[in-house]
Amino acid sequence: MTYSDVILEHYRKEAEEHGKDASSTMKDEITRGREIASVLRVLDLLRSRAPVTGILDVGCGNAYLLEVLRKNHPQVALTGLEYTPEMVEIARGRGVSDCTVVQGDVRALPFADGAFDVAITERCIINVMDRGHQADSLREMARVLARGGHYLCIEAFTDGLAELNQARAELGLPPNDMPYHNLWFDKAWFLDTIAPDFEVVDLSTHRDPTLPTPNFLSSHYFISRVLYPAITKAPIVYNTHLVKFFSFLPPIGNYAAIQFYLLRRK
Ligand SMILES: C[S@@+](CC[C@H](N)C(=O)[O-])C[C@H]1O[C@@H](n2cnc3c(N)ncnc32)[C@H](O)[C@@H]1O
Repeated sequence: MTYSDVILEHYRKEAEEHGKDASSTMKDEITRGREIASVLRVLDLLRSRAPVTGILDVGCGNAYLLEVLRKNHPQVALTGLEYTPEMVEIARGRGVSDCTVVQGDVRALPFADGAFDVAITERCIINVMDRGHQADSLREMARVLARGGHYLCIEAFTDGLAELNQARAELGLPPNDMPYHNLWFDKAWFLDTIAPDFEVVDLSTHRDPTLPTPNFLSSHYFISRVLYPAITKAPIVYNTHLVKFFSFLPPIGNYAAIQFYLLRRK
């Protein structure tokens, strides 16, 4: 099976099972909620400093995020790009106003240089299971952004998984694996690859707990993927009372693979 076969088959099934629902590609409600809240909070910060006219969501899936963006930013032109035809159909079927959904590939984006002031990936480039092609994809994200524009990069990293698995091992739990259809980023590789095009924006200097830091999901992952399975001995169960109870915790440590980087186009 080629890369395309694996990805297209995986997300065809996801589209069939979850349709327009928020659970599509993310069964964990807290993770989904925090990704969305973080995107909205960062957009508010960016718009308080400069106008934002066009937002691109690459790997937009069923366009759940695009619909939320439309409600919160009625004047901004929205564009979604998606690889899997069944997802494109659902995304278009939402009928988000002033929002074009294009079928395409993050490795070769069908947009002009500097076309957008904000671009987002919410767990997209980890599906491109080749480091060289991932680097091409990150360069494409830079190319379509105007200078000074921002890339809200929500992707998964192996350092978070490694620390999570150390904590799991301490409690006698087997390691969690990367999903078969993903290649998660190595942190040093990622920072080296983006360095020519982007600077990393450090949001921790604001001392504002509503602004995401790369480890924004760390405490949630510790509770849901270490503490909960250690107590129950059950494999992962999503959206439990125990996990929701502790969801107020600020991010501590580096236990989540999914991380949030705000990148500024040089
Ligand atoms: C984990 S899902 C996330 C979808 C959406 N961002 C969300 O949060 O629900 C990854 C999405 O990326 C899409 N995708 C995979 N490879 C892609 C590629 N090469 N170019 C663009 N999108 C791709 C998949 O079809 C899938 O919809």
